[in-house]
Amino acid sequence: MHIVLTGGAGFIGSNFIKLVLRDRPDCRITNLDVLTYSGNLENLTDIENDERYSFVKGDVRDPEALDKVLADADAVVHMAAESHVDRSIMDSGPFVDTNTRGTQVLLDAWRRAGGNDKRFIYVSTDEVYGSLSLENLEIKFTEKTPLDPSSPYSASKTGGDLLVSAYFHTFGMNVVTTRCSNNFGPYQFPEKVIPLFVTNLMDGKKVPLYGDGKNVRDWLHVDDHCEAVLAALEKGTAGQVYNIGGNNERSNLELTHAILGLMGHGDEMIEYVEDRLGHDRRYAIDASKIKSELGWEPSRSAWPEALEETVKWYVDNRQWWERVRSGAYQSYYEQQYGSKA
Ligand code: NAD
Ligand code: DAU
Repeated sequence: MHIVLTGGAGFIGSNFIKLVLRDRPDCRITNLDVLTYSGNLENLTDIENDERYSFVKGDVRDPEALDKVLADADAVVHMAAESHVDRSIMDSGPFVDTNTRGTQVLLDAWRRAGGNDKRFIYVSTDEVYGSLSLENLEIKFTEKTPLDPSSPYSASKTGGDLLVSAYFHTFGMNVVTTRCSNNFGPYQFPEKVIPLFVTNLMDGKKVPLYGDGKNVRDWLHVDDHCEAVLAALEKGTAGQVYNIGGNNERSNLELTHAILGLMGHGDEMIEYVEDRLGHDRRYAIDASKIKSELGWEPSRSAWPEALEETVKWYVDNRQWWERVRSGAYQSYYEQQYGSKA
């Protein structure tokens, strides 16, 4: 099977490529990525010479580039996105452009390439459901929970999500959508909370905790997410949505204490800062559908071991995060969207 993956130079995409090459000897994979600030080919140096892997620098908003790369593909896994909520609050333009319009351009290109009957996976997010309260912890997002996104990021992902659903209903396209909770693991851009906090502490800086620190996220190891996407690709039913989660809910304060403990620091390193605008209070995923229908469940996400391993990866790979943080990959992004981005 020849898979075209969009956004394969990012955090989840680069981990997905390694999983496919390791566990699916009969698959080859083409990585289409435009290399924004968060796309980094250094994430892939260990497999870049694998003959089953190839890289194409290209944009999901560029129909011509897509026509070339999709010509002999058997499946598309669409991960390319602007992914950071705080950036979407600063400037939502790139988010709508890539996450919503880019998905539409890609869906049309896939139809032109004869892909209507072949699998198209849309990697969505649990943020499309909006926010749960802290009042009743029994309530979780199911696939039937109404979409109610609250940030420009999640609204733009919802735009893509709804288009994918529309292409199933209108054209009978062979689409499957996955909606996953917060990922952690190696190669995550150090603007996201776990690598940001670890790298700040390594630099002797405090960790900026938003608001009261009581917001809750459901943490899943990136390898578990990638396994679930592969299960959706191979076994998912067309037109269906599968929630993916770790059953691993933690408040940001619990997460912060865990990181501080692993790194030998105390509460004096916490700096409570102004809350994120529109900050979703709680995400929690009911992943029973993917478990019962596709046989997937997490095996790599249990804390404290998985968190400890991730923290250690950033401690051991200072050179990697110093390079990405210094903006070695920033120039394309600034050229497109200006220094505000
Ligand atoms: P990331 O920011 O690390 O990577 C995004 C990748 O997409 C980068 O390599 C970037 O260069 C590429 N890209 C961006 N715009 C592009 C464009 N116009 N054309 C081609 N490539 C482009 O993001 P991530 O955390 O790896 O997230 C990947 C996907 O998974 C996203 O769709 C995100 O919404 C979704 N997701 C992420 C999480 C999470 O916790 N990180 C959870 C659920 C879903
Ligand atoms: O739920 C899935 C989503 O998870 C993905 O769709 C997004 O692409 C991904 O970025 C992530 O979104 P979050 O906004 O939940 O992740 P982030 O790491 O930015 O923040 C996690 C929590 O930590 C959130 O409640 C905000 C808080 N936070 C974050 C930062 C960057 C802080 O308290 N301080 C910070 O400096």
